[in-house]
Amino acid sequence: MGMVKEKVLITDIDVQRLDISHKSILLNFKSYEQELVDFLIEDALDNQNKKISATYLWFYKPTKELVGYVSVLTDAINLQGELKEYFRQKHILYKSLPSLKIGRLCVSDDYLGRGIGTLMIKFVIILAEKIGNDVGLRFIAVDAKRNQDPKRDSVHFYKRFEFESLKQREKGPLPMFKDLIKK
Ligand SMILES: CC(C)(COP(=O)(O)OP(=O)(O)OC[C@H]1O[C@@H](n2cnc3c(N)ncnc32)[C@H](O)[C@@H]1OP(=O)(O)O)[C@@H](O)C(=O)NCCC(=O)NCCS
Repeated sequence: MGMVKEKVLITDIDVQRLDISHKSILLNFKSYEQELVDFLIEDALDNQNKKISATYLWFYKPTKELVGYVSVLTDAINLQGELKEYFRQKHILYKSLPSLKIGRLCVSDDYLGRGIGTLMIKFVIILAEKIGNDVGLRFIAVDAKRNQDPKRDSVHFYKRFEFESLKQREKGPLPMFKDLIKK
């Protein structure tokens, strides 16, 4: 039986907006999703400078380690099919509605299963509520990475936070959304 690791508390986390001073720290970040490591090292700061996405680094205070990151950007969700019908019934006839998109979200391999992913989702929800006070914002959206291994399939992770799938797809990431107005 594997050892149950203690959950990480939000008070033990220091969130820092990515900047040039972090460059060398990024090289130590490890994830089984290599594409998410590559994005962090190669593209995250460049995208942020170009105002394409903003990246928040998560440090675990007791060890000062970089334990995760999340990149967000603004987006819109096209209302199609069931979702279009749902909003029509509410007399909302727009073709699309604004969303905050989770472009990338990743917890380092050494810290998986300790609740950091959950804290990151809570962080994004709070961020969305904050932004949503100043601008229109109805959804949080994500293209969830699939994995053959159900324990690594992030669709299951997002479903825990009441993300719903936008449309069925055979291949590639699954577009999902969370309505910020609870039904
Ligand atoms: C998905 C990910 C962010 C989860 O982070 P985490 O810190 O391990 O998640 P948590 O510890 O908060 O897990 C919360 C719960 O979800 C479950 N869970 C975590 N990852 C899961 C996954 N990939 N599939 C299904 N369930 C998952 C956990 O078992 C846990 O349940 P418990 O509370 O009953 O123990 C992490 O696995 C990761 O970074 N994966 C690689 C990158 C990735 O897939 N990112 C998302 C793509 S956009």
